[in-house]
Amino acid sequence: MLVHKITEVREKVKEWKRAGLSVGLVPTMGALHNGHKSLIEKSVEKCDRTVVSVFVNPIQFCAGEDLDKYPRTLEADEKLCTEAGVDIVFAPSPAEMYGEGHILSNDFLTYVIPPYFYTDKLCGKSRIGHFDGVCTVVNKLFNIVQPDFAFFGEKDRQQLIILKKMVNDLNIPVEIIPCPIVREESGLALSSRNKYLSDADKQEALALSKILFNIKNCYKKGITDVRSLGETAYAFLNENHSLEYLEFRDENNLEEKTTADDGTVVFIAVKINGVRLIDNISLR
Ligand code: PAJ
Repeated sequence: MLVHKITEVREKVKEWKRAGLSVGLVPTMGALHNGHKSLIEKSVEKCDRTVVSVFVNPIQFCAGEDLDKYPRTLEADEKLCTEAGVDIVFAPSPAEMYGEGHILSNDFLTYVIPPYFYTDKLCGKSRIGHFDGVCTVVNKLFNIVQPDFAFFGEKDRQQLIILKKMVNDLNIPVEIIPCPIVREESGLALSSRNKYLSDADKQEALALSKILFNIKNCYKKGITDVRSLGETAYAFLNENHSLEYLEFRDENNLEEKTTADDGTVVFIAVKINGVRLIDNISLR
């Protein structure tokens, strides 16, 4: 069932709660692919009822980013959700979420701001304010849907770690369920932004997963020095790759590692022909 209004979702969820049913929420920005689908299937399996939100959240896009051209495919998204057994697809307008004439600056909107230590690195370094926008909208979605469980992909692991921190720090009564990265057979992590890549770009994009798999291989063979592990990346990079970061960080608090261990996650961001791609791997 496609729902655009907050009051309508609330009423439905109230009914479910009265009947003692558990509720799962899968927040998305739409353009759904098999990565999203894996989260949705997990929720449908675990929870009595599942809500998928489809909302391209303007406040998490920085100036100059792809807010206007971000793919919007609501009809196909709704079909995928219905076939997967989703009960509600919640697709609010920006005005429904942020008010008419929605003024989105933080002079006019109450924001949820995660700790600087978690946001001054990795994607937060180039996407100023991005995680403020993510935490604010996810907090709103939690308040609207009041789910028992919420499902997030490890594809966006910094986001996942920050949202776990938010739920913990603000005592939000929801359990976050992390879901593994879904990849193409080639290794490329699925992403809505892969739609921006030409076939040739897609070949170049394989460098990200190759670098990560190779580092994990080297780690499993006994190399733990982060500098040595990092240097192995250059064999996979050429002039078509603009490496934004390759970093080794703690899986819980994003602290930098100099020696890799099982609790280390390797994060990578590369721009290919102006398209920014991210990936990561746990060394566990
Ligand atoms: P979006 O990019 O649409 O992703 C929605 C969810 O799908 C996120 O939890 C993301 O990590 C997960 N996901 C995307 N690709 C995946 C893949 N290949 N394998 C596994 N999971 C994958 O992330 C957002 O939207 C937004 O920031 C949001 C949380 C909805 C807030 O606006």
